[in-house]
Amino acid sequence: MRSAIENRVSRRKFEKKPVTALEKENIVSLIYQLNEVSGLTMEFKEDGSGAFGKLRKSYGLFTNVRSLILMKGKKDDKDLKEKIGYYGEDLVLAITDLGLGTCWVGGTFDKNELPIDSGEELICVVVVGKVEAPSLTEKMVRSVIHRKVKAMEERIISDRPLPQWVQNGMKAVLFAPSAMNTQKVMFKYENNILSAQIADDYSMDLIDLGIAKKHFEIEAGGKFELGNGGRRYL
Ligand SMILES: Cc1cc2nc3c(=O)[nH]c(=O)nc-3n(C[C@H](O)[C@H](O)[C@H](O)COP(=O)(O)O)c2cc1C
Repeated sequence: MRSAIENRVSRRKFEKKPVTALEKENIVSLIYQLNEVSGLTMEFKEDGSGAFGKLRKSYGLFTNVRSLILMKGKKDDKDLKEKIGYYGEDLVLAITDLGLGTCWVGGTFDKNELPIDSGEELICVVVVGKVEAPSLTEKMVRSVIHRKVKAMEERIISDRPLPQWVQNGMKAVLFAPSAMNTQKVMFKYENNILSAQIADDYSMDLIDLGIAKKHFEIEAGGKFELGNGGRRYL
């Protein structure tokens, strides 16, 4: 499996020193490429700490937030949330490869501190920064207690035994981040057709849908149609 999929965990405690000029250059150029293909307008903000400055909004969960990515696009893009998840996760995995920490943040920040153009909608942010490698104990504690991962059987409905490629894709889906760790995206494999859907009863659900589709595609290839219930084609 791609190492960034296995290695990525949400990081909320950052070192005080900012990302380097080279790291920034890398991130900005990745964002440029992803915006080109997606029509999104994601934007790197070197210092977005104002949105995390007030305890009231950030609930003290985050430490030393400085750089972040504004996950935004055109208001009239009907697939905006799903695209943010799909292309944003590409970005998150690439930033993980750079050795930096990330966390998707949907709610616990102050939107007023991050003004955007009137034709745009800010869906969420991804905080980015330098992190110390998690200690072995940290990793163990996390795997045992914190990160409850649903079993593959809870994430896919099928009318036949799962072929290897579906199992490979689903293994990567189990590693995908999801808002409040709800892991709600469900896959269906029936009549040789694979599709992905989510209940869509929470504002972050369609972001999770895009993220899960991206993880599946990275491991098993193919491409999903956009939309809730979108099918995979080759
Ligand atoms: C769309 C989205 C929104 C999220 N919003 C927040 C948030 O507001 N605050 C937070 O601390 N974590 C947030 N997270 C991180 C999740 O809590 C995290 O992905 C989940 O618990 C799984 O843990 P992991 O990312 O370490 O694998 C969000 C994740 C996603 C995908």
